[in-house]
Amino acid sequence: MKVTIDGQSIEVAPGTTILQAARMIGGDVVPPAMCYYSKLKGSGGKCRCCLVEVAKGSDADPRPMPKLMASCVTGCMDGMEVNSKSSERVTEARKSVTEFLLINHPLDCPVCDQAGECDLQNLSFEHGKSQTRFIEEKRTFEPENIGPNIQLHMNRCILCQRCVQVADQLTDNRVHGVMDRGDHANISTCISKAIDNEFSGNMIDVCPVGALTDKTFRFKSRVWFNKPYNAHRDCDKCCGKTTVWMFGGEIQRVTGRKDEYHEVEEFICNGCRFDHKNVEDWTIESPREFEKDSVINQNNYTQKLEKVEIATEKNILLGRDEDRKKISMAEIPLNANNTNS
Ligand code: SF4
Ligand code: FES
Repeated sequence: MKVTIDGQSIEVAPGTTILQAARMIGGDVVPPAMCYYSKLKGSGGKCRCCLVEVAKGSDADPRPMPKLMASCVTGCMDGMEVNSKSSERVTEARKSVTEFLLINHPLDCPVCDQAGECDLQNLSFEHGKSQTRFIEEKRTFEPENIGPNIQLHMNRCILCQRCVQVADQLTDNRVHGVMDRGDHANISTCISKAIDNEFSGNMIDVCPVGALTDKTFRFKSRVWFNKPYNAHRDCDKCCGKTTVWMFGGEIQRVTGRKDEYHEVEEFICNGCRFDHKNVEDWTIESPREFEKDSVINQNNYTQKLEKVEIATEKNILLGRDEDRKKISMAEIPLNANNTNS
C-alpha cells in the first residue's frame, strides 16, 4: 500500500498505522507521541498529540477525513494522503493539546528529575505557548509511597497509561485501568500493586514525564551532567543490555537503552536497574548517542574536546571543585580501549 505524508511517499504493509509509516519516513513528518509505545500492546489513542490531517482517505474513497485523526491508531489505506507538519490545522491542534496537557501538569521542571529527557518538555518547547489561560487551581494528589525504588509524583501524570500497560504486560499482577474519573483520574492504585515485580522498574522508562522516577537516582544529578554509556552484563532475568549514566567514575543510574523516539529497545529487570551500580558489574561498550538537539549532548563527549572552563560553572559549583571535575569528565576514557579521541 502506498501512503504519502507531507509529500513523501512510502510503501507499507496492511495494518501499518499512519504514525508507524511516518516513523519509517523519519524526520519532521513524524508526529509527537506521548502515549503510543511500540513495545506495549494497545498503547496509543489517549493523548491526542499525534493528530494529523487526512487530506485523501484512499484511492478507493478519496474523500478527506473531516476531523483530525490520531495517527497512532489510524491505519493506512492505499493511496492515502496525510498532512502532518505541513498542515497549519495540525500545528494549531498540537498547540491546543499541549496547552491542555499543561493545564494540570505542574511547571516544576527546575526541580523535576525528568527535566532534560521529558517528552512533555520537548513538546512544549516545540508547540507550547508562553502564556496560560488556565486560572483555576491545578489538580493535586496526596503523595503515595509505592516502595523503595520508584517515586510516584501523581501531580505530574498525564494519564498516558503506559505504566499501566507495563504492569499489565510485563508483570504477573494483572491490575490495570484508570481509577476514578475526570480531574480525579489516577493510576497509582493500579501500579502500586505490581510494584514488587522484577520488571516494575520499566514503568520509569516508559513514563514520558516525571511522574515515575528512580528513587536511587533522584536529586543526585541533572541528566545533562551525566555521561550515558551503553553497557551490558550477564543477566539471567533480562537481556542485560542497558545504558549506564556516569558521573565521573561513578554509575549514578541504569536505564534501558532508548531509541530516537525515547522508547526502550529492550526492557530490563530491576536487578540490573537498581542493584548494579558498581562499574565492575558492567562491561562498558561505548558512549550512547542522542538526537542532535538533546540537552544530554551538552558537553559532547563522543569526540575529543579541548577542556573548557566556564566562569558561571565555577560560580554555580563554588567550593565544589571535585564535582566540577566529574562533570567535565576529563579523566574518563571514551571507550573500552582507554583512548580519549
Ligand atoms: S505515571 Fe507516567 S506512565 Fe503512568 S500514566 Fe502517568 S504519565 Fe503515563
Ligand atoms: S500518541 Fe497518539 S494519541 Fe497519544
